[in-house]
Order: sequence, then structure tokens, then C-alpha cells
Amino acid sequence: MLLFPNCRPESNNDNNKISESSALVFPEGFLFGVSSSAYQIEGAHNADGKGESNWDRFSNTPGNVIINGNVTADHYNRYKEDVLLLKELGVKSYRFSVAWTRIFPEGTGQVNQKGIDFYKDLVRLLRENNIEPIVTLFHWDLPQKLEDKGGWSNRETIDAFENYAKTMFVALGTDVTWWTTFNEPWVTCFMGYWMGRYAPGKKDLPVALQCTHNILVAHGKAVKAIRTINPKAKIGITLDLQMALPADQNNPDDVTAARIVNDSHHAWFADPIYFGKYPQNIIDLYAKEKVSLPVIQPGDMEVINQPVDYLGLNYYYTDRFSLAKENGKGWWPYGVESPKNEKTIYLDKSIDTTGLYTLLSYLDNKYNHPELLVTENGCWTDDFINHKGEVNDEYRIEYVYQHLKMCRKAIDKGVKVIGYTNWSFLDDYEWGSFGRMGMVYVDFKTQKRIIKKSGYWYSECIKNNRFQLD
Ligand code: FCB
Repeated sequence: MLLFPNCRPESNNDNNKISESSALVFPEGFLFGVSSSAYQIEGAHNADGKGESNWDRFSNTPGNVIINGNVTADHYNRYKEDVLLLKELGVKSYRFSVAWTRIFPEGTGQVNQKGIDFYKDLVRLLRENNIEPIVTLFHWDLPQKLEDKGGWSNRETIDAFENYAKTMFVALGTDVTWWTTFNEPWVTCFMGYWMGRYAPGKKDLPVALQCTHNILVAHGKAVKAIRTINPKAKIGITLDLQMALPADQNNPDDVTAARIVNDSHHAWFADPIYFGKYPQNIIDLYAKEKVSLPVIQPGDMEVINQPVDYLGLNYYYTDRFSLAKENGKGWWPYGVESPKNEKTIYLDKSIDTTGLYTLLSYLDNKYNHPELLVTENGCWTDDFINHKGEVNDEYRIEYVYQHLKMCRKAIDKGVKVIGYTNWSFLDDYEWGSFGRMGMVYVDFKTQKRIIKKSGYWYSECIKNNRFQLD
């Protein structure tokens, strides 16, 4: 997958080089952790009654991606040793997702008890090791049976999700406080149903827009449900909040372009949740381009507009935008372009740590001071095992440190940043190929795990609540 830049220092933006390494101290109870998702690490794609997901289908269909996620890091069979690794990493929290198809192999109907037992045991082990579980209900892997009926564009999927969410809330009960309804719905809808690059591989913008709305309704229904099932729970949603900035901040057209990108991407999801309505400028833009808007049923916006306990954000990069020079060019239907060459845009995103600070401040200001959990932030590299059998990923240490510095700066300004779960726990399946983004190296042939230098560093820093480079 090309979305992420290699984070070795030579590809870093020079402006981000840090000149000093002050020790960063975080508030008591800060949720330091690592992140993963079911499809990316579990493997065991058809074990113990698990049903087929749209990612199983997509990744096993020739021509879509380089490799499938059938085995990946085999976490389903190795979760006990993996919890010991989490313990060694010293994390206070662990963010993972549930594979819906382990619980309801066909999306609805009969519960598969073996699936429930797996997650119950994982949570039990985490609790025994004082690690707070942060459980995501949906991280992109939809039961194929639901996909066959239109997936997220079909409102029946909303009911199926509500039923699945309630089943998990009851099954895990008070052992889980922290829940996330959806991970990056923009990616599910736009990469999956408009660009066709991810499962289910469709290319239809109105369908993608209907998906966004249906996912938001499903989110609201799950939030409503947990308030009675587990009133002490904390629930939120995770959005992929890359920051769009104007190519030239003194140029009003560039400012408009950046706003269009942020609003069509972030505000499209966050505004309905926090304010009960979609951003009008983006609705107008779709109308102008004659793109059909989602069908909204009476009562939907009230369901979406449920109070949430936190907003999860995945931050990887910042990009800069201008309005497209020629009418009809640029990114349809948004009419914007990145001044970079279109062909290199995905390869050439700058890792901009200050973008994280800008983003945290912007969310704090726009959404009335919500609690913010950095659910993903991480570094794609070509790590290797050296002659001593170690993985020395110093660049990842610098990457994490610099982003934590931005979290600390935001906290100092009064922004309520409550945690940081690094992407990722293990090297994993990165939606088409294997990716080395973990604090733990995985040899995908032998399944041997090696804690990388960054993992030891992270553990030491968490233990002492002092994050520093030397
Ligand atoms: C995010 C996804 C996550 C992972 C990282 C690298 O967009 O949520 O699953 O693939 O990118």
C-alpha cells in the first residue's frame, strides 16, 4: 500500500528535525497504548465457525491486491503469547477490533459462541495484566453476506450492526469500558465504494455517500444502546483526520481548497455527530456537481447526534491544497488539487508532526472542547533483523517522540488529549501487502516475534512517565 511514506529520517521534512530532547511527562491515567485490528493480525480466516468477510473476498479475488490476509500474524492462535508481549511493552491500553464474522458468521442470525469466547478470553488476559481494552466494533471487515445485499448502502446493515453491537456490549459487559463504534468510515465508504481500491471494490460516489450516512446512523444506534447496557462505558468514533492546509495561506482560494478537503472528509462525519447536520458547503458542492445526496429518513439526524464521550483520531500526515486551475480538473467533484504531481501524491506526503498539533487544536476549538484520543499514529519502514538478531528502528523512536511532543503541547494549551495508541502493535497486513509499522517485528514465515528497539524505548518511557530520546 502506498499511502504511507517511509519514515526513515532521509524522507522526513527537515523542518521537523528536533534540536533538543526534553523529557515529556503526561497526566496520570493517560491511555498509552498500541493499536491493531482484527483483519490485519488475526488470520485464521475460516477457523471455529468464522464467516467470510468482504475483506476475505476482496483480498482473495485475483487482481485486487498483492496478498491476502488469511494468515497474516496468526494472532487468533497466538493471542496468549501476544498479550505477554503487550505486557513487556508496558502499555496501559490496547486498542483492537472485533471481527464481526466471528460473532455472526453471516452478519445476523445465530451467534457463534466460539467467536465470543475468543474476545472474552483476550479481554480477561488484558485485565489480568492491567491493560485497558479499547474495543473497536468495526474496522472495515463487513460480513460478505451483508455485502452481497449492498453492504453499507443497504439500511438493513444498520439493524444488523445494532444487533451485533448490543451482542458485544452484553458479552463483554463491564470488563470493557472503552468502545469505538467505527474506525475511519471515510475509508470504508470512499476507498471501498467510490475509488474501488478497498473492499468491496465499487466505484459509485452516490453509493459511497449513502454508506457514510448509514454508518453514521449505525454509530448513533450503538451509542444509544450502550447507555442502558453499560452506563459507565465510554464510547466514541475514530476518524482518519489527516490535516489539509492551504498551499499558500495568504491565498484565499487555497484557504477555500483546504477547507473543502477538511469539510468533505472530517466535518462530513464529525458535524452530524456533534451538531446534527452535514456541512452545508459540501452539500452545496455535491448539488452543484449533480451528485445524488444520501437518503435521510425522519429521525436519522437525531440518532446520529448522540453525545459521545470522546473523539478518536488517526493522524499520519498533512497535505497542502489549491483550487483546481482549470474547471473540471483536479479531484472531482471537489475541484481541488494538491500542487504536487498527482502521480506522486501518495508517495510524497510529508510527515508533519506540527500537523498533529494543528489538528488537535482545530478539533478542540470546533467541537467545543471534546476529549480526544489519538487512536493511530505510526511509521511505515523497511525494518530488518540485524546480525545480532535485533531490530533497531531508531527512526520510529524519533517519530513517536515528535508526535508525543505535539500531544504534550496541545495538553499545555488546555486541549483534552486523553491517550495515544500507536499504530501498531505488530507488523501486520496493511490492506494489500505486509507492512512493518509495528513496535514488534513479525517474521511472517515463522511467526516469530521480536520486540523492536522502539518497543523497549516505549516501555521504559511509559514506566517512568518520561519520554525522551536519550
Ligand atoms: C489506517 C488504518 C489502519 C492502518 C493504518 C496504517 O488508515 O485505520 O488499519 O492500516 O492506516
